[in-house]
Amino acid sequence: MENVLDLIFKRRSVRIFTKQKVEKETLIQLLQAAMAAPSASNSRPWEFVVITDKDTLSKLRSKLQYGKYNAAAAIVVCANLGIAANQSAYRFWVQDCSAATENILIAAAGMDLGTVWIGSYPKDNVMDILRETLAIPEDVFPLSLVFIGYPAEEVLPRTQYSEERVHWEQY
Ligand SMILES: Cc1cc2nc3c(=O)[nH]c(=O)nc-3n(C[C@H](O)[C@H](O)[C@H](O)COP(=O)(O)O)c2cc1C
Repeated sequence: MENVLDLIFKRRSVRIFTKQKVEKETLIQLLQAAMAAPSASNSRPWEFVVITDKDTLSKLRSKLQYGKYNAAAAIVVCANLGIAANQSAYRFWVQDCSAATENILIAAAGMDLGTVWIGSYPKDNVMDILRETLAIPEDVFPLSLVFIGYPAEEVLPRTQYSEERVHWEQY
């Protein structure tokens, strides 16, 4: 097991992938990581669309201006406020779904998979593309799309620690 900080530094955006497919078991593990994320009042407003179909991936690539990457799989992290377990906490859905997204990225780094987060919400044009391509209903909000695959480029681990951004005790 890698040290948790090593894993966090190792998580970098990968944008070039091999053709190797990502097994369903592996995708389920990533979904388990996602659903282990913290959420406000444990509201868990998330739903996930998992894509491995080549035609659908190719459609997404052709439509997404900033998501033209050849990954073997993708997961779209969505919020469905209607299923949120705590209706007073639903306003935190962006944070909840972002935490779930980050968990996918870190877990994938630990499995030697490459990932890149493609921003969707609050960009209406990207949300429309995802809704239209993946039959996501209007009242479900796709927050992010994560491309997942085996890396065909090397990206080096790093922290971007900057002392100037830290205020100890008081701003
Ligand atoms: C909310 C969000 C939206 C992003 N959208 C895109 C995107 O549309 N296309 C892309 O190639 N990368 C996207 N990224 C990845 C960032 O460009 C990347 O995380 C950043 O440059 C830092 O590099 P690193 O991930 O290697 O640390 C996004 C990241 C976040 C958190």
